[in-house]
Amino acid sequence: MTRIAKRMSLIDASGIRKVFDLAAQIENPINLSIGQPDFEVPEEIREAAVRAIRQGRNRYTVTQGIEPLRARLKSYLRAQKGLGEAEVLITSGVSGGLLLGFLALVDPGDEVLIPDPYFVIYKHLTNLLGGVPVYVDTYPDFRLREERIRPLISARTKLMVVNSPSNPTGVVYSRAELEMTARLAREHGFLLLSDEIYDEFTYDETPPSVASLHESTLLLGGFSKTYAIPGWRMGYAYGPPDLIAEMTKLQQYTFVCAPSFAQYAILEALESVRNEHREAYRAKRDLIYEGLKDAFEVERPGGAFYIFPKAPWGSDEEFVHAAIQSRLLIIPGSVFSEARTHFRISFAAPDSVLREGVQILQRLASKSVQK
Ligand SMILES: Cc1ncc(COP(=O)(O)O)c(C=O)c1O
Repeated sequence: MTRIAKRMSLIDASGIRKVFDLAAQIENPINLSIGQPDFEVPEEIREAAVRAIRQGRNRYTVTQGIEPLRARLKSYLRAQKGLGEAEVLITSGVSGGLLLGFLALVDPGDEVLIPDPYFVIYKHLTNLLGGVPVYVDTYPDFRLREERIRPLISARTKLMVVNSPSNPTGVVYSRAELEMTARLAREHGFLLLSDEIYDEFTYDETPPSVASLHESTLLLGGFSKTYAIPGWRMGYAYGPPDLIAEMTKLQQYTFVCAPSFAQYAILEALESVRNEHREAYRAKRDLIYEGLKDAFEVERPGGAFYIFPKAPWGSDEEFVHAAIQSRLLIIPGSVFSEARTHFRISFAAPDSVLREGVQILQRLASKSVQK
């Protein structure tokens, strides 16, 4: 037996694996489990990447990322999010930024406030580093409430994660929620980590980045979703220079640099490519929400491409099991939550597939009535 490091027992991947094992047995599934856009990569970006490879952009870049891209991102963040001067590091996806950020910030025993439901990486990185995840209950509407956060703050609170638009709920926090969070962070001297990977996918309002409301914020952004290039591993971190310097040091000994051809391609994309999919995704959001709202307890997502209804009967896993038996792939909420009551649907799929999914879900929900 290989003597694996003890820390590995602090994390597990069994929840999601169970679903994928089940799903692998289904022929011709209706797949609403996927966390990436269903549109094609914009032609200009594909061409820019190919050009970069042909031009020999295949070597290591400097650890922090190529200078013109960092400069371009700073001006983008100034123009789009109203952010001032801080440092930028190009990361290997937001996941890369999360690893470097957590490594640089979390000591054993440090508490990390995580709104529940959450994107899974936050919990596992906290545990891996010996930190303590402290979950902020946001059910049933997935909103941040001061009276729920305040009692959880302690002398060990190191940071709070903010993910808006959210995976898995699609919730977009209002300006008031973000201002309240920034005020608590200021009052109690903790840092905010704002994961804004879905910032180009908002359908109603686009509130400010919490980084514009609280200086001690590590903002993580990325291109996996915006340009449908999750395989390229491109993201960035923006934050206080001392923190970015530590993260850069760690990048030097881990990822070394973000993929070089992709850095050059994104540099071109930021000049010219607009998100042309917002309208189509807003229509998908409407299609799925309107299709489910009478049969399920469900919040209308303001962003991302997820919706997180409550299972109308049984536990999350029992309901998802029944859905998979009907060829519909969705994900049990307990993969993203301490609760076992909801399930996640991704609406990054063709409209015809969404309609089929809605029909199956309506049928499954009505089974509870017959029980
Ligand atoms: C909230 C959130 N953060 C980060 C990531 C990771 O993205 P990346 O491909 O940039 O590592 C995802 C991917 O699904 C996500 O949903």
